[in-house]
Amino acid sequence: MEFLLKPGGTISGEARVPGDKSMSHRSIMLGALAEGTTHVKGFLEGEDALATLGAFQAMGVEIERRGEGEVVVHGVGLHGLKAPTEPLDLGNAGTGMRLMAGLMAGQPFDTVLTGDASLCSRPMGRVITPLQKMGAEIESEEGGRPPLRIKGGRSLRGIHYDLPMASAQVKSCTLLAGLYAEGRTSVTEPAPTRDHTERMLRGFGYQVKCENEVISLESGGRLVAGDIDVPADISSAAFFLVAAAIAPGSDLLLTHVGINPTRVGVLNILTLMGADITLKNEREVGGEPVADIYIRYAPLKGIEIPEDQVPLAIDEFPVLFIAAACAEGRTVLRGAEELRVKESDRLAAMAEGLDTLGVKSELLDDGIVIDGGTMGGGKIRTHMDHRIAMAFSIAALRAEEEIHVLDCDHVATSFPGFDALARGLGLQITAQAD
Ligand code: S3P
Repeated sequence: MEFLLKPGGTISGEARVPGDKSMSHRSIMLGALAEGTTHVKGFLEGEDALATLGAFQAMGVEIERRGEGEVVVHGVGLHGLKAPTEPLDLGNAGTGMRLMAGLMAGQPFDTVLTGDASLCSRPMGRVITPLQKMGAEIESEEGGRPPLRIKGGRSLRGIHYDLPMASAQVKSCTLLAGLYAEGRTSVTEPAPTRDHTERMLRGFGYQVKCENEVISLESGGRLVAGDIDVPADISSAAFFLVAAAIAPGSDLLLTHVGINPTRVGVLNILTLMGADITLKNEREVGGEPVADIYIRYAPLKGIEIPEDQVPLAIDEFPVLFIAAACAEGRTVLRGAEELRVKESDRLAAMAEGLDTLGVKSELLDDGIVIDGGTMGGGKIRTHMDHRIAMAFSIAALRAEEEIHVLDCDHVATSFPGFDALARGLGLQITAQAD
């Protein structure tokens, strides 16, 4: 599939974007390992979370899909999974693979975790290292790439792991393995990262401590099923926040968006750039803060992005670079080397696309410098990365010529129905088979 975008347009109206991807993955994992039945509302029916759902069905967990984001998980308890007969295919999902690696290391049976070409090129050494320290036996392809062959029946021991990079996936992997390890498992992180695993474990009645920045849990507990209301994904909302921020005359309300403090970097960065954002109806839903986000067009200016915002906006940079391209002056991002190991090398992929549109940028090892100005049009390569595809679609609002975004199939991993929703809000987008 490809997207064709006519230049210009205004964004207006009200919308609820699909459910949070991180929480959707975790709702299946913890629901499956809980005792009792978990009802999930607002589940993201995108390919990534569905791959996790399929993996647990392959391990004997009964999971019903009732449509419209409703899923019922019949938990089997921490020790109730059955050996899968085939490798578990986690598709495009780094979160699926890295969190599952932690859980699978503690099972009595062997598992193989695999995925698509993009996932099989991503580094898994970052989760293999702490798991091996805990006593897990894991084989991978060269350079720690998937497939991962995880030996079952190993007795794990709790460790303290000082994370070398700010990664919620590595933190979560280690803590989830800790559910099966002897004694206490703890982690410290170089900077706070999304804490959905900790919140959801607590929501399922499992004690997770956070004292002096050390996050820890003890094995031997149980997860008790509960209902989960997944808010709209702020990472998906980000595309329309930037859309409204760059298109003159825009006026948009995004409802029921998760605003967990570890995820709001995009709001903070856009506000620093001069965006006109108001949070309305702030509330807490199932242990996670939620709000309606109202945004109106206002001219943006370039900024030096504070480094402490990087982990809090890690998935939103592709579209934030489009905001930077439309801002007056220079935007500088540093401390974001993690962007090089996402679904694509997002620094390089964005620099390439910006260049196609005639936007000046300079690539740094750990970031990028973007000079705002006018944007032309052209053909954009997405490198099979959903967020690159959506970011350049949004750019069309300020482009002077048509933008043709190639290879958009992966958009369905995180944002099924993106083009239809975007069209309804004012983007001049058409999807066509390639
Ligand atoms: C995620 C953590 C982040 C993020 C990813 C989802 C999670 O990855 O980029 O999209 O759900 O834990 P890292 O842990 O690699 O930073």
